[in-house]
Amino acid sequence: MDTFTYHNPTRLVFGKGTLSKLKEEIPSDAKRILLVYGGGSIKRSGLYDQILSILKEMDRDVFELAGVEPNPRLTTVKRGVDLCRQEEIDLILAVGGGSVIDCTKAIAVGALYDGDVWDIITKKATADKALPFGTVLTLAATGSEMNSGSVITNWDTQQKAPWSSPVSYPRFSILDPSNTFSVPLDQTIYGIVDMMSHVLEQYFNHSPNTPLLDRFGESILNTVIETAPKMIKDLENYELRETLLYAGTMALNGTLSMGVVGDWSTHHIEHAVSAVYDIPHGGGLAILFPHWIRHTIDADPSRAAKLAVHVFGVDPTGKSEREVGLEGVDRLREFWTSIGAPSRLADYNIDDSKLELMVERTLLTAKEFGHFKKLAKEDVYSILKAAL
Ligand code: NZQ
Ligand code: ZN
Repeated sequence: MDTFTYHNPTRLVFGKGTLSKLKEEIPSDAKRILLVYGGGSIKRSGLYDQILSILKEMDRDVFELAGVEPNPRLTTVKRGVDLCRQEEIDLILAVGGGSVIDCTKAIAVGALYDGDVWDIITKKATADKALPFGTVLTLAATGSEMNSGSVITNWDTQQKAPWSSPVSYPRFSILDPSNTFSVPLDQTIYGIVDMMSHVLEQYFNHSPNTPLLDRFGESILNTVIETAPKMIKDLENYELRETLLYAGTMALNGTLSMGVVGDWSTHHIEHAVSAVYDIPHGGGLAILFPHWIRHTIDADPSRAAKLAVHVFGVDPTGKSEREVGLEGVDRLREFWTSIGAPSRLADYNIDDSKLELMVERTLLTAKEFGHFKKLAKEDVYSILKAAL
């Protein structure tokens, strides 16, 4: 294992009926609260009314930023920053999925930064403070509820930029599986793919001696693989939603990176595809990840082989590690296809007409990227071409 320091300051409040804990989580001096939410799912589910009535009971002034887009936009972040300044907001409450939470993180740092918040997102400047914020999560996928990461799209420059900061962790996150009942089938599938991909990004590493960490990751994957086929047929099943919600958080709250450096190339490439075509993040990952594993397997075939045996039950007898690993990739592909995830860019009507542009987008911040295997222009080109 590599050396590591682990600190996660988010208070995680998990389980049935936990929305009632919102009262305890919101500090007494947070008088003016900005409620941030998406395109209306929280109004349809009734969560919006429940939250407003709790905040009213607490006698807080509530302001609203509605309409945060999936793949949240810089323009929306800036609207939020302006609102925080004008209304002297004390605390932001994000209610929604990863996009709402990511947008809130950027608003929280932007509100206390004198310059342009885009400079923080593109890492030209560092955030050293943020408005406090909490979340009520409604979709199991990103792990944003318990990490410091955020991904913001600047549609003017067609850039989807990930950033993080020690000051951008939620103070608290309330996760009631019942609040994910209304997540539609497609978003449920994308969430499943996303959380599995987070495990995979961290599983493919070169750190020696990681038996426990490997098993943590494998157990998340095995649990999700066992749960997902039942989940897609029974969207309001509490136990299944509970299992996925917990898995999504554990897949990207830092636990799986204790002592390893994950790869993250597939996310990097997916963000470039989303920046050009605005496709759902989990859908893009489902298409790209198997191709990335095939492309990079020789960097250390034992990793893909271990995954194949421990997660996909591949029989390694008489086969090379490479062969076993590749069989595992086929099983991963089959599994995602079996639950209804897309498998080709063509599923989103993406052809090769903007291939160059997507490749160029991945190289915007560095000519090479990835930790398990460094990828350069020709690698990205091959992966995207194979995914068409
Ligand atoms: O906008 P509303 O109306 O709320 O609808 C949303 C949205 O249309 C809907 N939804 C969410 N909860 C629902 C619901 N519909 C019905 N019932 C509910 N309970 O689902 C749609 C997608 O929501 P979104 O927040 O975009 O999904 P997700 O949580 O998958 O977030 C995706 C974003 O997170 C970024 C992705 O790149 C993408 O921009 N990521 C953030 C990460 C992080 N901060 O750590 C890591 C990830 O790898 C990822 O890159
Ligand atoms: Zn992801």
